[in-house]
Amino acid sequence: MNSAANNINPYMNESTNRDLSMIPGDYGLPLIGHTFAFIDDNVAWVLKNYQQYGPVFKQALAFQRVVATVGPDFLRQVTLDQDKVFSSQAGWEGMVGEFFQGSLIVQDFEEHRMQRKLMQTAFKAESLHGYIDHMNRLVQSALLEWPKNEPMLFYPAVKSLLLDIAAKVFLGAQLEDEGPRINKAFVDFANGATSIVKKDWPGLGYHKGLKGRAILDQFIRQRIDEKRHGNGTDMFSHFCRETNEDGDYYSDQEITDHMLFLLFAAHDTTTSALTMAMHQLAGHQDWQAELRETLNAIDAETPTFDHLGSNIPELDYTFKETLRIYPPVPGVIRRTIRACEIGGYEIPAHTMVSTSISGVHYLEEYWSKPFHFDPMRFSETRQEHKQHKFLWAPFGGGGHKCIGLHFADMLFKCLMFNLIKHHRVQYVRDRQSAGKILYVPFTRPKDNLPLVISKA
Ligand code: HEM
Repeated sequence: MNSAANNINPYMNESTNRDLSMIPGDYGLPLIGHTFAFIDDNVAWVLKNYQQYGPVFKQALAFQRVVATVGPDFLRQVTLDQDKVFSSQAGWEGMVGEFFQGSLIVQDFEEHRMQRKLMQTAFKAESLHGYIDHMNRLVQSALLEWPKNEPMLFYPAVKSLLLDIAAKVFLGAQLEDEGPRINKAFVDFANGATSIVKKDWPGLGYHKGLKGRAILDQFIRQRIDEKRHGNGTDMFSHFCRETNEDGDYYSDQEITDHMLFLLFAAHDTTTSALTMAMHQLAGHQDWQAELRETLNAIDAETPTFDHLGSNIPELDYTFKETLRIYPPVPGVIRRTIRACEIGGYEIPAHTMVSTSISGVHYLEEYWSKPFHFDPMRFSETRQEHKQHKFLWAPFGGGGHKCIGLHFADMLFKCLMFNLIKHHRVQYVRDRQSAGKILYVPFTRPKDNLPLVISKA
């Protein structure tokens, strides 16, 4: 079977349309366009344009000219893509292509559907059941080690814990002596993939990232055969044993490409979600106390599969509200493969189109006081998110909707349950809640979130 990476769709050979004269807005500064305003505060930037120009405007980001859209109807149009007009491959490839060739996000239509099948077993409920015990064990041992009653930096601590979870649950590997080398390769790889200057020059993050990628590629590839013939229950083993529609195993290249993207897609997103949740809980002690009371009323020391989803409402509202305020992925990007209409504008073929997730999460037409942390907006009595199917969309939608959303839900709730049930989490400094937030590559407080954890 051919590697997906070798499959060239004809529209990939076309150059991108850069004439957006029919769309309101401007192209910003020469070369850099609006990149700095966008990465400095993505939400403020999107809402400013929305107010000035309406829900469709042009912007120039990372050397690309893009038709930006803000609104739940656009999120539906672009992600569901009922007319098969939006290419994810042509949208994402310029940004992440060299790192994620052959991954799901750079595949379209039928090819994408076939490749996505490779991952399905690993994300079924039975498989997820198998992951939670590993997660609980790793979370509990991290909680024993994390300092108590003295300041700690939450962001690097949770990042390191999630790397351990990835090694165990994704790769099924005891890294032991190899741990530091593989962890470093992974961190370089993730930083390189999200670097703004995409040049393979020594000294640049992009260059280090590609070297990290090569190390991980080799690590994964060398283990495929053993995984294929073993009975492991980790994600990697599931991928290796999966067969395509002809009953053949997926190729080594396909498995490696998918594993690499999966590690990236899962790690920084969930690290960001957990960090921003702790930021909110430290700043909202009343809600934190209410959540703890709910967890203490549950007769279980660690969460089981049945405690996930919406089964502990206060925990679920915390998850949803954190991802509403700080969606780790601010929007999705596509390129049109033929002319289409968006919001009354004729959009030519081969035009970059983005649709904002963060902007939709703040629209005053739908959300009451959108800048306030208010988990109860998701409660049965209020259900603000139910006004439109694409109003709360941190995981995107349609064919490319995040395949790991239940996994992310499980990981988030597993750590929250274990941590908040028996501990109190506080800021180290007064006014810490007003500190600078970085949005790129993934949302986190600039100070890495110093916190004090104490027994509750
Ligand atoms: C809070 C955590 C996460 C958020 C907010 C998130 C968000 C997203 C979004 C918005 C997309 C769609 C991108 C697009 O349509 O262009 C996506 C795709 C994807 N995500 Fe996630 N994600 C998270 C966690 C995870 C986890 C834990 C995994 C794996 C275990 C994962 C694996 C993937 C994969 C493989 C895709 C590509 C799917 C496809 O193209 O068919 N993500 N994610």
